[in-house]
Amino acid sequence: MPFDPALFRQVLGRFATGVTVVTTCMGDSKHGMTANAFTSVSLDPPLILVSVDKKADMHDWLLDSGVFCVNILPEHRRAWSDWWAGKAPKDGDQFADIPHSAKETGSPVLDECLGFLDCKVWARYEGGDHTLFLGEVQEAAVSEDDSLRPLLFFASKYGKLQAEEG
Ligand SMILES: Cc1cc2nc3c(=O)[nH]c(=O)nc-3n(C[C@H](O)[C@H](O)[C@H](O)COP(=O)(O)O)c2cc1C
Repeated sequence: MPFDPALFRQVLGRFATGVTVVTTCMGDSKHGMTANAFTSVSLDPPLILVSVDKKADMHDWLLDSGVFCVNILPEHRRAWSDWWAGKAPKDGDQFADIPHSAKETGSPVLDECLGFLDCKVWARYEGGDHTLFLGEVQEAAVSEDDSLRPLLFFASKYGKLQAEEG
């Protein structure tokens, strides 16, 4: 690399994002992973993208399951971000104490999120040490609770959206 990798990470961290939990399932087994490398791609067909580290367990899950759901976290669910960023058990039910349901693909849809996008994998692209998974959205919804605020991530720290003036 022609420059310091730590600087590279630092600069990327200056791009403020929301926080999502990507979930998937195979039969009765379910897996989740915190992700902020998420973006919209296309309206027609409806496509979104998540970038997943090849070293993450989620990577193999997505290769095998071919489905995933992106859950957009509200600020009061920071613990869920921490849970699926390394605290959740590798074996056993990661969703045992987490209120959730299943929609079109069967991937867990977490309660009390700002919105979800339930997808089938539409394409995969090489992305260095990550794979870019494009998902075709099968079902989507936003929360009816307008008081929910997003959980933010900036410079390696969580943040909250400041209340609007006036
Ligand atoms: C705020 C935040 C955002 C993250 N975004 C991503 C991401 O977009 N892609 C990724 O592969 N890992 C991301 N991670 C790291 C994974 O959540 C973490 O490596 C996780 O433990 C992988 O879980 P698994 O190996 O059980 O699938 C993020 C972590 C945090 C805290």
